[in-house]
Amino acid sequence: MSGRLLGKIAIVTGAASGVGESVARLFVREGAKVLMTDLNQADGVRIAAEIGATFVRHDVTDPAGWQQVVNTAIETFGQLDILVNNAGILIAGDIETASYDDWKRLMTVNADSVFLGCKAAIAVMKKQGGAIVNMSSIAALAAKEDYVGYSASKGAVAALTRAIAADCRLKRYRIRCNSVHPDGILTPMTRATYPKGIDPEMLTIDQDPMNRACRPEDVANGVLYLVSDEARAVNGIELRIDSGQFVMSI
Ligand SMILES: NC(=O)c1ccc[n+]([C@@H]2O[C@H](COP(=O)([O-])OP(=O)(O)OC[C@H]3O[C@@H](n4cnc5c(N)ncnc54)[C@H](O)[C@@H]3O)[C@@H](O)[C@H]2O)c1
Repeated sequence: MSGRLLGKIAIVTGAASGVGESVARLFVREGAKVLMTDLNQADGVRIAAEIGATFVRHDVTDPAGWQQVVNTAIETFGQLDILVNNAGILIAGDIETASYDDWKRLMTVNADSVFLGCKAAIAVMKKQGGAIVNMSSIAALAAKEDYVGYSASKGAVAALTRAIAADCRLKRYRIRCNSVHPDGILTPMTRATYPKGIDPEMLTIDQDPMNRACRPEDVANGVLYLVSDEARAVNGIELRIDSGQFVMSI
């Protein structure tokens, strides 16, 4: 541990799996007290016990739940310095095949949740400052024709992040807000999209221009930088973590 987050209190959503789990593990190693949240209570409780974090079951689409989570952070740890809005879902569909119900579900889980989380956190962070990271995607920046609803929801996250960064700066809140844009990270979410019989590990390595698979830890390291004091002048940016997939597609 190098203590880059020593004394900081962090909420990480979607922390029972994939990128969120990796962020929670790294934050604890760097000295933060972490409140992990997820719908998946079994894995959340297990991981929190293993790493020395606190777990609260929370549906990020529930406005009242957000108030409870922020209250728990304040009551348990006395303050809130960091929020990572990471929880999300992926539903495939192009403009002809995607259903309106899937569209609404994607917007609610991926975008509304970020609005609710930022609103609840900023209400307390505005007194002492803080750092927010919102998990977007390369799908917000480049075309993913077979993921129209997902792309739109992640585009909303990116635009919301910029608006919050500007708003907090204007109000001199000392709250920074940045978005992270991963692609091709090997997690349960993406493994499920590979055809049967294909080893996603090998497929990703073959397709990766840098000949290496993206890992949840690669994203966690970027998130750590953005919430640390080393990034004190970094606000409203879109950090791509994709092994260069984006520049290969334009
Ligand atoms: N894996 C990738 O390549 C990739 C690429 C771009 C963006 N992302 C984004 O990164 C984030 C993490 O994805 P991941 O790949 O680790 O996926 P994952 O499926 O492994 O983890 C997502 C977690 O979010 C939780 N979750 C889902 N809906 C929730 C809700 N309503 N309330 C609370 N928790 C909920 C799930 O239970 C799960 O633990 C997501 O926002 C995803 O869109 C991932």
